[in-house]
Amino acid sequence: MRMQLAVNVDHIATLRNARKEREPDPITAAHLAELAGAVGIVCHLREDRRHICDHDLRRLRETVKTKLDLEMAATEEMLHIAIQTKPDLVTLVPERREELTTEGGLDLKTMRTILVQFIAELARHEIPTSLFIEPDKDLVRLAAELGATHIELHTGTYSRLRKADEIQCELKRLREAATLGRELGLRVVAGHGLNYINIIPFKSLSDVIEEVSIGHAIIARAALVGIDKAVRDMIQLLR
Ligand code: PXP
Repeated sequence: MRMQLAVNVDHIATLRNARKEREPDPITAAHLAELAGAVGIVCHLREDRRHICDHDLRRLRETVKTKLDLEMAATEEMLHIAIQTKPDLVTLVPERREELTTEGGLDLKTMRTILVQFIAELARHEIPTSLFIEPDKDLVRLAAELGATHIELHTGTYSRLRKADEIQCELKRLREAATLGRELGLRVVAGHGLNYINIIPFKSLSDVIEEVSIGHAIIARAALVGIDKAVRDMIQLLR
């Protein structure tokens, strides 16, 4: 099995918003990423709309031909938007205003009651839900109990490690969490901090993790060599 690539286009909007202009357009970027072989497009509609805005989300829903994964916090406002937009997948993430990017995984234990209602409401509108969690077996079990259809394993810790033995240890933790997720009937994807270097050892998990969600590394390379090449380079590494 080959790991598939979903591309997060948030930072095309970050660049656009830096000058409050219309360019570059995340919708064009999404289209080019799909043409280059991405199997999905991801965007995070944040409470402060610092990159993707409501208008982008509507246009992405109209134009994305693969699948659209909407990352969002578990708030009433976002639930309403998700139901209106009907993405192919909602990925629930923790969100703090002051953070630069999503920091940890969801605290499923504290958020249990709200997540059950959220997931059920999305399911009622035929929207599957993924929970962004640390690669911890207890959290994987809890995600299944709460009714999630997918889990996204947080690779932030993996991506920060430099020592070979620690990397191997984290890969083992990711493998165990992913294997359990699959046994429980969940679809298992992963993301955060993955890049053109750390993806090489990471793809040893392609028998248990079906897809990676990558934003920053691809958009950073795209700024220099173009998004078509940046996406194709990553797909080549995943082969
Ligand atoms: N997955 C989730 C849930 C995220 O919040 C992010 C960051 O927006 C990513 C994947 C992509 O992370 P990165 O930009 O580091 O590739």
